Amino acid sequence: MKFKKIGLVGGGIMGAAITQVVASSGLTVVMYEMNEELVQKAMKRIRSAFQREQDKGKISKEKLHERLALINGTTSLKEFFDVDLVIEAVPEIMEIKKKVFTSLEQATSPQTILASNTSSLSISEIASTLKDSQKVIGLHFFNPPQKMKLVEVIPALQTSTKTIETAVDFVRLVGRESVVVTECAGFLVNRLLVPYFYEAMYTLLDGSAGIQDIDNAAMQYGFPMGPFRLCDFIGIDTLVHSGRIMEQYYGPRMKPPFLMEEMVRAELLGDKSGGGFYKGNQINPDVLLLIENLKTNSKHTVAFTTERLIYPMINEAVICLQEKISTPSEIDFAMVSGIGFPKDKGGPLRYADIIGMDSLTESLDRFAQKISFRFWPSYLLRKMVAAGFNGIKSKQGFYTYLNEVNEN
Ligand SMILES: NC(=O)c1ccc[n+]([C@@H]2O[C@H](COP(=O)([O-])OP(=O)(O)OC[C@H]3O[C@@H](n4cnc5c(N)ncnc54)[C@H](O)[C@@H]3O)[C@@H](O)[C@H]2O)c1
Repeated sequence: MKFKKIGLVGGGIMGAAITQVVASSGLTVVMYEMNEELVQKAMKRIRSAFQREQDKGKISKEKLHERLALINGTTSLKEFFDVDLVIEAVPEIMEIKKKVFTSLEQATSPQTILASNTSSLSISEIASTLKDSQKVIGLHFFNPPQKMKLVEVIPALQTSTKTIETAVDFVRLVGRESVVVTECAGFLVNRLLVPYFYEAMYTLLDGSAGIQDIDNAAMQYGFPMGPFRLCDFIGIDTLVHSGRIMEQYYGPRMKPPFLMEEMVRAELLGDKSGGGFYKGNQINPDVLLLIENLKTNSKHTVAFTTERLIYPMINEAVICLQEKISTPSEIDFAMVSGIGFPKDKGGPLRYADIIGMDSLTESLDRFAQKISFRFWPSYLLRKMVAAGFNGIKSKQGFYTYLNEVNEN
């Protein structure tokens, strides 16, 4: 499909930034906000972002003006009559999204693809409100979209193959890389992040390690930042909101730790509220007080190691594979590209092949016995162990290693 004009609904954090990404690839964008003041606020945000690029020497002054000229802010959906694709980036509330999609179906042509940037709501439910639900799809950009290369493409149950192909083309055209993910709560990347975040918090609460130790351990493993820094960046309220949705679908293993609920109550929301686990460069004393009050003091005998953080993420990746959410290489690619899983370890499934399924399953069993049922190894892992698919050392794992030298 030849894209000429793209629509954006919502000019907040994500909407304004995606508008900038789309205009940067030379496409015309019309961006809708609810009133003129909000349009101006979004335009100011976009101008400042382009200005920062110019200040850093990434674009010329002419380019800045050229790109800004491609963007038209509006308070009328009538201007969407000739757009090829719309990305909705309004608040994460199903009722608002459904209303926006219904209005969009009326305002656009029958061929227009209608995409949602939701990070946790059901695309299939949004699609169900439309007369033609085949053209609805999820396009999940990560924050900040200007920097993050990955976009999850999430077809609803109703989405046509043509819509999927067109959405993938669009992602490529705006200089991003896509993974097509079967719809599930949290989609792929956030679903895998959640057990990692929660385990970091449970480690704090049972007194096995402190915030800085845990963040340092994750960075030593090779992540660009530790789990608590990342939680502060995403926002604790956002995590609780999506965590509740995931708990509803996956049950108790995804229950948000009570610490997060308490942080929201105390307005320790992370960077956006001026403090979460950290306040500037220091550990936030207010969060330490909360942790002290909530400490479980469960004296299990497992000393903290990075495995406690990483293995639940790997286990969830295996469950995703079991559920055919994606392929091993797409899961690994998404985690390396989306959250900076260490490139030298190849992604959670490649890393499982390095550890060996037997050793991974043994450790998960030990954690499940000594810490919590949360670590219960997935069925597929046990099946692979039984079959002798033990990763690189057996030349068979999530990948095959026909030419590897077996050093064991
Ligand atoms: N912020 C993130 O880190 C992030 C990352 C990935 C995806 N998302 C998703 O992107 C979407 C937007 O998130 P955000 O952080 O940009 O939110 P935001 O609150 O910054 O922006 C939402 C914008 O939508 C506008 N809006 C509200 N109701 C509207 C309506 N009926 N019609 C048109 N515009 C309306 C608001 O004025 C606001 O500018 C959400 O679905 C969120 O889950 C957010």
